Amino acid sequence: MQENNDERKVLKTAIDIIHHINRAFRMSKIYEPNNRIFLRQIKLLHHYIQNIHKIQGESTFILRQNSLLFNNVKLKFSFSNYYLFKFIYSELQKKDVGELLFLPDVTENELSRFILLLAEKNLSPDNPFQTFLDRLKERNINNIHVNNIPAFEKTENKEKATKKIFFLSMTHLKEMFEKQEEKHISLTTTKRLMQAIFNHISDNESFLFGLTNIKNFDEYTLNHSVNVCILSIALGKKMGLDRNELIDLGLSAFFHDFGKLKIPKDILLKPGKLDKKERDIIQLHPHYGAEMLIQMKEFSHLPLQALNVAMEHHSREDNSGYPKYKKKNSINLFSKMVKITDFFDAITTKRPYRKKDFSREQALSLMLELSGKEFNPLILKVFVNMMGTYPVGTLVLLNTAEIGIVYENNAEAINFYRPKIKLITDKLGNKTDGKVVDLSEIDAQTKSYKRTISKTLAPNKYNINVSDYFIAEAE
Ligand SMILES: [Fe+2]
Ligand SMILES: [Fe+2]
Repeated sequence: MQENNDERKVLKTAIDIIHHINRAFRMSKIYEPNNRIFLRQIKLLHHYIQNIHKIQGESTFILRQNSLLFNNVKLKFSFSNYYLFKFIYSELQKKDVGELLFLPDVTENELSRFILLLAEKNLSPDNPFQTFLDRLKERNINNIHVNNIPAFEKTENKEKATKKIFFLSMTHLKEMFEKQEEKHISLTTTKRLMQAIFNHISDNESFLFGLTNIKNFDEYTLNHSVNVCILSIALGKKMGLDRNELIDLGLSAFFHDFGKLKIPKDILLKPGKLDKKERDIIQLHPHYGAEMLIQMKEFSHLPLQALNVAMEHHSREDNSGYPKYKKKNSINLFSKMVKITDFFDAITTKRPYRKKDFSREQALSLMLELSGKEFNPLILKVFVNMMGTYPVGTLVLLNTAEIGIVYENNAEAINFYRPKIKLITDKLGNKTDGKVVDLSEIDAQTKSYKRTISKTLAPNKYNINVSDYFIAEAE
């Protein structure tokens, strides 16, 4: 028991150490090294390192692929301190440092020189580790040791990191939904998450789109909100919104169905058609959502557009839809965007009251039919282009009789119909290991395309859960 308590204390202290490294690091950029505030952080840092030495006799951070070990135990970060992990991970990685050791005799003075060194930028691009090591020696920092990152650890698994963000978003949203009665929701974490989604969309868009195939029936509102958020940020990016606008858009999209929490579950989950009374109740969710957002303690941190989006995401381009307004107002741009991503995610999800769920491709063509009536034609065009002719996650049959999942769209317009496909069965229908093939590839001998899409398939009919393939990829 004592051991467990000690271990918990050590892990907590390890995070405190990173916290003070981070604080001191930031302060070193604005204050002189003899500044009182900077020195106070160093003092605290020293204090925590000493504490650990008393309990465990060592103090070592080790970088592993996407994780950080402290004295050989993996550190767990929550939402609120995930930025600390990001910080230390990226600072050490920039220097190719895989191991950082504080020896028991380390002094405050050494720590302060170490922090200044950590914040230095001009390391040699060819061998940042050697430069860092040389400087440690030059500055007589003898009680802090570093080791190199082993070569095999260097390739970061992007998919894994993206998957983590996706599931962190779900957990966070779930926490918020559970806490909403108390109105103690911290938006700082939500904002940070939006930034993470933004970063991942910048460098791993297809994979994140693949994850939006996750359609968990029980957690519908959760899944749905995260998906709508991801798709909206991606759409905003294609429309040229800047980073801050995208984060506001992400937040607004995240909360668009917040009001559904007030709708009784038996109506929300009712199999079969809803009667007029039930429909009226469901149609109150925009009002409820806006009301709940206003009542949030941290309401002032929310972009005002979040209210628009909560209220207007069921308004149609031709001004019908709900709620009904006596006076017609112009609908907010964010609402028009979320209207599209919301509709797309909703109709591609199987729901008890909907007879049919659409494949991603069918959903886009239905939406194009409703262009101008239901949706703003220009924004819809950008969305359809973004999703590609065959959106990521579409199940397809190839002319070779193989079955695969659209894995990534090809960027060039000429290859619009020729995305990259993850093969899941061979010609005979046997399961395969998921090799990714590029449909734009041409056979050298026949001079024609090696593979072409014959038609799209409904995943349900084949009992295939598309998202499983994206998750497996990241395991
Ligand atoms: Fe809604
Ligand atoms: Fe929705």
